[in-house]
Amino acid sequence: MSNALSKIIDGGYAWFNERAPGATAWYNRHVGQYYAPKNFNLWYYFGSLAMVVFANQILTGIWLTMHYKPDALQAFDSVEYIMRDVDWGWLIRYMHSTGASLFFVVVYLHMFRGMMYGSYRKPRELVWVLGCVILLVLMGEAFFGYVLPWGQMSYWGAQVITSLFGAIPFIGEGLLELIRGDYLISDATLNRFFALHVIALPLVLAGLIYLHLMALHEVGSNNPDGIEIKKKKDSNGKPLDGIPFHPYYTVKDLFGTAFFLVIAAFIIFYAPTLGGWFLEHDNFVAADAMVTPDLIKPVWYFTPYYAMLRAIPAMFGSQFPGVAVMGAAVLIFFLLPWLDRSPVRSIRYRSTFAKVMLALFVICFVWLGYCGTRHATPLLTFSAQICTAFYFGFFIFMPWWSRIGATKPEPERVTFDH
Ligand code: HEM
Repeated sequence: MSNALSKIIDGGYAWFNERAPGATAWYNRHVGQYYAPKNFNLWYYFGSLAMVVFANQILTGIWLTMHYKPDALQAFDSVEYIMRDVDWGWLIRYMHSTGASLFFVVVYLHMFRGMMYGSYRKPRELVWVLGCVILLVLMGEAFFGYVLPWGQMSYWGAQVITSLFGAIPFIGEGLLELIRGDYLISDATLNRFFALHVIALPLVLAGLIYLHLMALHEVGSNNPDGIEIKKKKDSNGKPLDGIPFHPYYTVKDLFGTAFFLVIAAFIIFYAPTLGGWFLEHDNFVAADAMVTPDLIKPVWYFTPYYAMLRAIPAMFGSQFPGVAVMGAAVLIFFLLPWLDRSPVRSIRYRSTFAKVMLALFVICFVWLGYCGTRHATPLLTFSAQICTAFYFGFFIFMPWWSRIGATKPEPERVTFDH
């Protein structure tokens, strides 16, 4: 670099530092001098990937909003206009719709990582709880967004999901009217969903993601061995098994991001609807209040919960039991840090029994997801009931089963293969 240029840069930095001395301290605390365990593996990509997808959703969302019309008479056509007439509009739309599904792929894998390595356990309960709030808000964000194209599935999906709130005793009716802004799904509903989708929930999500990371950096990251690197420090007070986030993990995360973007690009260019899994065929048909689609179902990331809703029979003509079970299925994640009583954190050192339990939990979740995409047959409903029972049993009996079986001794220092 020429002498003059480096002088300008140094001068600029000194000028900035004098006016915002906290910025460098902030950078060092969260990036430059943030010591993360050196044994992060593939599972540790998903946090940064979730941020990449979030950025993609915001950016593509801004461009979609430039052409989209939140009006029941124009919404569907405006999306078709984006797809056909706006320069690169199809790309922006598919980046956004594929991004929504990839967001859930990444977040579910990110949560699974937490469950494998016991990342939710003391002292990271707050990180986990904030993650659970993020999940709830993300679900709302995805649902509101799905309604906006005002296709058949948007309309009927909104009809089914909002009516669930009507099943809540005492407050249901008023709540339903508040959510819909009308007595039925209408232009007023579309307008408020638009407001929530493009500004309210993204702002809340951005704030929550910040808090999630700040809470993590207060206590430091867990790792695949589930042992605390802060217990072994060098003479400078740096963890012996820690490495500065920058450059080590910025480079690692950039590699992960590049790999992820290749896969994302492949889907976006060659299979943007993924055969109806990411964008359902019925949603390419304009909303029609007089014709119901053959099968009303949400997008794949909601189908495990939807299957639970359908698996629980109505009681005294009320859908409430199913609605309560569906809500509880998401909310129960909040309790995980206090349910797990295993003497070790990571799956690497847990008993075979605990490994089998986690594997069965995943199988049940995936199977429920499949059931939620099909017409309900007696056999599928029965299997969904079994899986729902296991899903809740997994959590409710965890204080007991997490202590069963012989655990392996945890290592003194993290294990690290080059
Ligand atoms: C928009 C969604 C989310 C974003 C952007 C996000 C971002 C991140 C990032 C960047 C990290 C640090 C890197 C890593 O450990 O992978 C992290 C860690 C963590 N996240 Fe998330 N997260 C999100 C959602 C969630 C959810 C839904 C949960 C759980 C319900 C969760 C639980 C955790 C936990 C427990 C850690 C600490 C992991 C460890 O140290 O082993 N996160 N998150």
